[in-house]
Amino acid sequence: MPDLTRSPAWQALHNHFEQVRHLHMRDLFTQDPKRFQRYSIKLEDFLLDYSKNRITDETESLLLELARDRDVPGWITRMFNGEKINHTEDRAVLHIALRNRANRPILVDGRDVMPEVNAMLEKMRSFCDAIHSQKWRGYTGQPIKDVVNLGVGGSDLGPMMATQALHPYASRDVSVHFVSNVDENHINNTLDNLKPETTLFIIASKSFTTQDTLVNADTAREWFLQASNDTSAIAKHFVAVSNNVAAASAFGIDEQNIFKMWDWVGGRYSLWSTVGLSLAMAIGMDNFEEMLAGAHDMDEHFRTAPLEQNMPVIMALLGIWYNNFFNAQSYAVLPYDQHLRFLPDYLRQADMESNGKSVTRDGEQVDYSTGPVLFGQLGITGQHAFYQLMHQGTKLIPADIIASITNLRCISSHHRMLMANVFAQAEAFMRGKTEDEARAELEAQGITGEQLNVLLPNKIFAGNKPSNMILYHTLNPRNLGRLIALYEHKFFVQGVIWNINSYDQWGVELGKQLAQTVLGELDQDDEVTSHDCSTNGLINYYKSWRSKKV
Ligand code: F6P
Repeated sequence: MPDLTRSPAWQALHNHFEQVRHLHMRDLFTQDPKRFQRYSIKLEDFLLDYSKNRITDETESLLLELARDRDVPGWITRMFNGEKINHTEDRAVLHIALRNRANRPILVDGRDVMPEVNAMLEKMRSFCDAIHSQKWRGYTGQPIKDVVNLGVGGSDLGPMMATQALHPYASRDVSVHFVSNVDENHINNTLDNLKPETTLFIIASKSFTTQDTLVNADTAREWFLQASNDTSAIAKHFVAVSNNVAAASAFGIDEQNIFKMWDWVGGRYSLWSTVGLSLAMAIGMDNFEEMLAGAHDMDEHFRTAPLEQNMPVIMALLGIWYNNFFNAQSYAVLPYDQHLRFLPDYLRQADMESNGKSVTRDGEQVDYSTGPVLFGQLGITGQHAFYQLMHQGTKLIPADIIASITNLRCISSHHRMLMANVFAQAEAFMRGKTEDEARAELEAQGITGEQLNVLLPNKIFAGNKPSNMILYHTLNPRNLGRLIALYEHKFFVQGVIWNINSYDQWGVELGKQLAQTVLGELDQDDEVTSHDCSTNGLINYYKSWRSKKV
């Protein structure tokens, strides 16, 4: 297979780009009244409308040709068959097994992983039931009222985002909190409102070596022991989720209370595993399994739909189109749903840790752009903040707009107003406002002459800003599962096309290594000279001020 940028499929796209780069979507819509029907895909109530993209039929077919040329179908099969596609860690990539509700055997090293997956789900169910039914009680005999998940990155963002997303499904008897930051303010502020006798900690760490999580776990244990003064009570208040059972046991967690995860689940893909225990505690196992079912719907769609009808594939190809041909450096995820406020944070890790790579699977330096900068916020908040740049700035920022057709508590005009903004913003991004339209509006307001000339250029919107729209009936567990799985597979397809390994994360290691060295130096009072002059200067400045009162 020739290198990506020298492949005929890439070259064809390159030539095509020169022909279509100036086409305006406004004209494409005028020419084709069926554009919406032709460029949208449905999975029951879950809709992806990608008609507001800078593509023609030829663009789409050339992008699909690129996907075939890079053997996307073969890679999909490899992933679902449990092949070790994470080659730098010699691991299979099987988050899809965690939500394999069809229970189709999935073999790793010749062994079906499904019995273990199902057993762990059963273990999660019994534990959640014991907490909710108050059979499991704390050391004073009182029921558990608060659950604190101690984890970071994939061991925090997924369950935290989903707990917020599914807030209407949450139990009123048990509150779930998330502590991730090594900054002690995070844990202290959380513990301030809790009682040790009614609090359960979940230490969630795949590796059980992550400093941030372990230091928070130590602090939690100290806080707990100050009240209970009894180490044997720890078993009733601390459980762990980890792939490193030995380290979790060494921390003092009863082996029965360790919820195992597997090395074939990447941290940022682990929401579906025992890392979801805190979420399951919040929403109950039935809802948790419904979310798995939603992800499985998307997995089946991804596995079986033809490329041209395949949502993750289409979203991935559109991303490549902007990233590699229009040279867009970023894209925005804009949920119009208060419950999805942490979705951009979650997807930021999923995308940027997966595809923030510059070495191919063959160990070569890439000569093309890979993963973009993902940013985002609640769309409605963004409208009053950074949309200005998206509408009239100099950068091309493709966007995904996400909304539900109805809100579980749809009791007033709020949701209609929200939806009006959803549709209006996507339309504004696409069509913009021409000079003639802007002029007519100003004249209708009685503005003429010099004042009009000054204002006019500022009132023009170039438009032609691409956006995808994802719409579904309700943000229920099933649709949340579908939504997250859609993005996971999108990132996978992009990684395949860029020929990078989306499942390792070596780039996070250097900072961790250096922090260990610096930590040792911070423990001593003498002057540090072992780094460059900036790092030495900063450390020494910190040391000179840390014991002073101001
Ligand atoms: O430092 C990055 C990272 O390894 C992520 O990939 C991971 O999600 C996070 O840290 C937490 O890791 P662990 O679950 O092993 O504590």
